[in-house]
Amino acid sequence: MGSVASTLPIGVFDSGVGGLTVWRELRRQLPRESFVYLGDTARLPYGGRSPAEILQSVREISNWMVQQPVKAIVMACNTSSALALEQVRHEFDVPMLGLILPGARAAVKRGQRIGAIATQATVNSHAYRDAILEINNELECWEVACPDFVPLIEAGQMDSPALHAAVREYLQPLLERRIDTLISGCTHYPLIEAAIRQVLPPSVCWIDPAVSLATAVKRELEFLGLRARGNSPSTRFCITGDDADRFAELAAQWIHPIAGDRILVEIVELLSIAPAAAERHQRAE
Ligand code: DGL
Repeated sequence: MGSVASTLPIGVFDSGVGGLTVWRELRRQLPRESFVYLGDTARLPYGGRSPAEILQSVREISNWMVQQPVKAIVMACNTSSALALEQVRHEFDVPMLGLILPGARAAVKRGQRIGAIATQATVNSHAYRDAILEINNELECWEVACPDFVPLIEAGQMDSPALHAAVREYLQPLLERRIDTLISGCTHYPLIEAAIRQVLPPSVCWIDPAVSLATAVKRELEFLGLRARGNSPSTRFCITGDDADRFAELAAQWIHPIAGDRILVEIVELLSIAPAAAERHQRAE
């Protein structure tokens, strides 16, 4: 790590536009940093994929990120953080940070009856429940998968009848449990916070793990002497799919006040890692 320059950008990735909610928080807390944002739109959504597929995608993205190069990688994706962070962080020579621990820590400070809404893959991993109970096993935690949210959000339906119906359906079991805290366990969900808040009693505390993650990134860079001191920060927006205009349009709705009217989106290709090689890599650990 000694040779990594503080002037390098921070790599941030997600399957699509969701990670921009993390990028926005990073920009807020680290206004002098530059970023490379990658949306792996060719493989969106991650939530229905197997742990092996997610691990492979994260390896390919991390590999691409270090080639750019970047000084740190932020997994702005709960699914990747839950399924791949622990394995992949030992494979690359840059600091890697994810959302689960910061999100769990923020939640246990606020509540005792904690709900987590997330993708199917994140819920299947029980990453949030395990992290919360490891901090305090007297708390209660319920996780609910919301598989319709990401496709609706990526289709630009942040306020459609279908979205509102899905919000009511997914939140019902958590409301029956009388949760006092709700973790937004997928980085796409802050984009529909308004719709969720319509159903959530005002007393329930909404936790966006991006806030604590950005604080953790700031601390880590400080500790490693890697904070940028420049005055002209920039962000490169990249995707792996072919619909750059669509991504730019969707992204603009969310980040318009920060990034301005025109968001330039590059289409990039990731080097594929053969699954067999990835498997061997995993077994050797
Ligand atoms: N936004 C991502 C997450 O936080 C992934 C959503 C998806 O692609 O299913 O989990």
